[in-house]
Amino acid sequence: MITETLLYTGKAKSLYTTENPDQLLCVFRNDTSAFDGEKIVQLARKGMVNNYFNAFIMQKLAQAGIPNHFEKLKNDTSSIVKRLKMIPVECVVRNFAAGSLCRRLGVEMGLELKPPTFEFFLKNDALHDPMINDSLIITFQWATQKDIDQMKAYALQVNTVLSELFLKAGLLLVDYKLEFGHYHNSLILGDEFSPDGCRIWDAKTKKVLDKDRFRKDMGDVVEAYEEVAQRLGIALPVMPVA
Ligand code: TMP
Repeated sequence: MITETLLYTGKAKSLYTTENPDQLLCVFRNDTSAFDGEKIVQLARKGMVNNYFNAFIMQKLAQAGIPNHFEKLKNDTSSIVKRLKMIPVECVVRNFAAGSLCRRLGVEMGLELKPPTFEFFLKNDALHDPMINDSLIITFQWATQKDIDQMKAYALQVNTVLSELFLKAGLLLVDYKLEFGHYHNSLILGDEFSPDGCRIWDAKTKKVLDKDRFRKDMGDVVEAYEEVAQRLGIALPVMPVA
């Protein structure tokens, strides 16, 4: 019996229904997108690397008490996840200034942010993910005050866990984006955690090891993701060079 039906296609992942109504199959594709979908390219092995990367990080977060949608790996490019009702906002935490923060505030790239910052953006490519705040979220009913407080608390807990994990591997977790959703009545972390949605620099050389390599045409994008994975101790299957 065929039980997998395409439910949703994002810019880099596709979600399929499964025989379990509470679970979805999440397929990590090689599509790599930047500038809200303006630039999309296929990068060999990226789906596989992000699938294993996300599985590793989500399991570390679960062990640290941060509930999330990851259930298990299904194959090299897909995982079984809990089916969530997603909140249409993106939560961004920053430890060092980069990207839109530098553009908006004119601060120097690499400036250490103490304490780390937290920002909300509306998930809307057509509007280029505008920055929003608690007041707008409440008024437009994208989430409740309780959800807002919980998203902020989890996002900062994620920072404590992952900044330490990355630093042990000689890596700086510069910033990252998280998305949350409801599983029955609980708010939990969904979407993904991979170098597609965060910035990672080598702690000593500040070499860029994330999707900025793609945004800025620096080359060796998936090679950089694989270097981070290897340094974090993530076992990737050996695949023939494409
Ligand atoms: P920004 O500097 O462009 O605001 O992005 C901050 C971090 O959040 C960066 O690691 C990229 C990530 N991010 C996404 O992955 N998708 C998004 O739509 C946004 C707004 C940010």
